[in-house]
Amino acid sequence: MNNNNISLFNFEKEYSNVDKELFINRDLFIKRLTDLEKIEENNKLKFEIHKISEIISNPEKDVYGILNISNNGGTVKIRFNFLYEELQQIKNALTIERSKYYLTRLKKSLLEEKTSKINDLNLNRWKEYQDIITDSLWILNKRDNSGAHNAGYWGNFIPQIPNQFLRRYTKKGEWILDPFLGSGTTLIECKRLGRNGIGVELLPEVVEIAKNNIDKEKNPHRVITDIINGDSTDLDFKFELSKKSIKSVQFLIMHPPYWDIIKFSSNSKDLSNANNIEHFLELFGKVVDNTYEVLDKGRYFAVVIGDKYSNGEWIPLAFYTMNEVLKRDYVLKSIIIKNFEETKGKMNQKELWRYRALVGGFYVFKHEYIFLFKKGKK
Ligand SMILES: C[S@@+](CC[C@H](N)C(=O)[O-])C[C@H]1O[C@@H](n2cnc3c(N)ncnc32)[C@H](O)[C@@H]1O
Repeated sequence: MNNNNISLFNFEKEYSNVDKELFINRDLFIKRLTDLEKIEENNKLKFEIHKISEIISNPEKDVYGILNISNNGGTVKIRFNFLYEELQQIKNALTIERSKYYLTRLKKSLLEEKTSKINDLNLNRWKEYQDIITDSLWILNKRDNSGAHNAGYWGNFIPQIPNQFLRRYTKKGEWILDPFLGSGTTLIECKRLGRNGIGVELLPEVVEIAKNNIDKEKNPHRVITDIINGDSTDLDFKFELSKKSIKSVQFLIMHPPYWDIIKFSSNSKDLSNANNIEHFLELFGKVVDNTYEVLDKGRYFAVVIGDKYSNGEWIPLAFYTMNEVLKRDYVLKSIIIKNFEETKGKMNQKELWRYRALVGGFYVFKHEYIFLFKKGKK
């Protein structure tokens, strides 16, 4: 049989956009792959791989029972596109040695987990995590409003921010700290993703909002989420966490007020009431100092913040804030630019802002920053 007989090529076009999840009977699939490893003729191997490609697309052709859910707990969930592309790679390899190399790699990815110290991502199946962002430009157009998430709190961040970081920089069961909790977005994501979370919020009325939101979210992984009503510029985090028998946290996320862009209260401890930029940075620096001790060395810290425009001048508040962290024992790992949709306040003023920009010679904010740090310069 020559390659032309294996005319999978319309099939490729037909199915390349499908990205459903498949349930694979691991034992039977591994057995099938092991049998295929014994084949010595490349075209025969390609033909057998073609049959598997067809099976995953047309379950009724599943003569091997690969797609059956295993009774002995050997079922694995796998993305169609990932498996399909792996099979294509085996099939398109020029030599039998190369085909078998890819075949063995696929087998290994199903048998062995390769995780790092800071997350649960299986690096043997890294191609499957297509929704984990690895570029520094984040264009997130649609807010995740599912479950308990809602855009009700003016100044909250979109849930995809903590979602991305928790999956990439923490493991299930670890602890996350958010010292500017607001409406509780981070803790809602903790519940979804099986991480424990502690949030600190200055304003009692906002603590109530957060509690309500967080309570609405299911807790399938039975994690702990807790809120401290307090001032993060003046909190003994070590002591507060020890009261809850928490020794340290493994991820820190801060979404402070962008100085006075949104006034959260008239409370003098509220960072949005800082008298000037130096005062804002001093207060923010205190929170960085206060939380330093409780974050494990080598673990990550994200700060979400935007710039400010005032009296005809663009104030790079975000970079000043970044520098405040870099004065401490943190290494900068990434500067992420995230698109920024109109806040409720500006939504109806789009045209007005455009006019002001044309008159004033500046550009309307469409982005904000996420700075990612790692604790420990050495
Ligand atoms: C930008 S919002 C955070 C929003 C949050 N990420 C969310 O998704 O809802 C900043 C929050 O920090 C709180 N805050 C301001 N100063 C604080 C302080 N000194 N200690 C603790 N929280 C403070 C504000 O009340 C506000 O809720």
